[in-house]
Amino acid sequence: MSVQILGTGSYLPPKVVTNDDLSKSLDTNDEWIHSHTGIRSRHIAEEDDCTSSMAAKAGKAALEAAGVSPDDIGLIIVATSTPDYATFPSTACLVQAALGCKGAGAYDLQAACAGFVYAIEQARCWAKVNKGAKALVIGAETLSRVVDWRDRGSCILFGDGAGAVVVGEAEGAGPEAHTVLWADGNGASFIYRDGGTRLKPQPGMFPIPTLVLQGHDVFAFAVRALAKVTNQLCEKLGTTPASLDRVFAHQANGRIIDAVARRMKLPLEKFYLNLETTGNTSAASIPIALDEAVRKGELKKDMKIVLCGFGAGLTYAGTYMQWPYL
Ligand code: UT7
Repeated sequence: MSVQILGTGSYLPPKVVTNDDLSKSLDTNDEWIHSHTGIRSRHIAEEDDCTSSMAAKAGKAALEAAGVSPDDIGLIIVATSTPDYATFPSTACLVQAALGCKGAGAYDLQAACAGFVYAIEQARCWAKVNKGAKALVIGAETLSRVVDWRDRGSCILFGDGAGAVVVGEAEGAGPEAHTVLWADGNGASFIYRDGGTRLKPQPGMFPIPTLVLQGHDVFAFAVRALAKVTNQLCEKLGTTPASLDRVFAHQANGRIIDAVARRMKLPLEKFYLNLETTGNTSAASIPIALDEAVRKGELKKDMKIVLCGFGAGLTYAGTYMQWPYL
């Protein structure tokens, strides 16, 4: 049985914060941010939005695009590092209630910015063994609530939003996708957010723990990881990166994607780019980009694409697929 992406959706909160806006409260400027990251603006959730509400809006759009009713969804996976609650209940359970997916199991998956690729692989395998069943896979983040807005070396990178896909049995037969999932916990200190059980709490110890980033180390890892994932997938399939139609890499920094393109000797045009107006939305970045490309009519049947991400953990992962087959 073949499995495919049946529909996509996304949601970006309406409030836009530009680099110039940031420069009013931070020692930074548009020239520095744009030349070092490719980012000009990002969407930031207002009080009435949070990770589950944005995930539900993206999920609803994906269900509508797929022509699938909430009752037909058997599984919801939300990839996120910024859940509504610190640990439980899962954001996926809140999405399940918001969308009225009465027959669905639901859980969160935490693989940071690579989370959507991990999640779509789980949904693909689940849909293969549960004939006719459909899964809703969402990447959603409210990073604006965990970054340190005084740290110009990290806060300028991030934005909020959500992207979603519905996965289910394909209408006809199609080629199977291939995925690689990797991790390297030796780099755990490169990007993290405290507040878990790692440290025994002391009185007054935690205000709200914020994201800590060693930008140089993550940058170097990201370039190696994205190139390795894409090269190995192509090798595994006996093809070359040059035969790819499009690469949907995690939208972290335009200079990372530039460096990956150079390392792989691929024209930059093969890489989908939207980070100029979204910033880094972590696990949401790949499904937001995918939905944008679908809605612009840029993805045609049988196009060869790679989805690849990297993030805290460290994690890195990629899926090679012929659109829309998984
Ligand atoms: O999803 C995964 C998440 N993480 C990432 O993807 C992060 C990957 N890393 C990066 O994107 C880059 O390392 C950054 C954009 C975070 C930083 O860029 P960089 O080219 O590595 O800059 P840097 O940290 O080497 O800083 C260079 C200079 C420093 O000043 P001095 O010491 O040379 O005087 C910084 O203090 O730029 C300064 N700087 C800034 N200046 C203006 C750092 N941030 C800013 C800023 N505005 N926002």
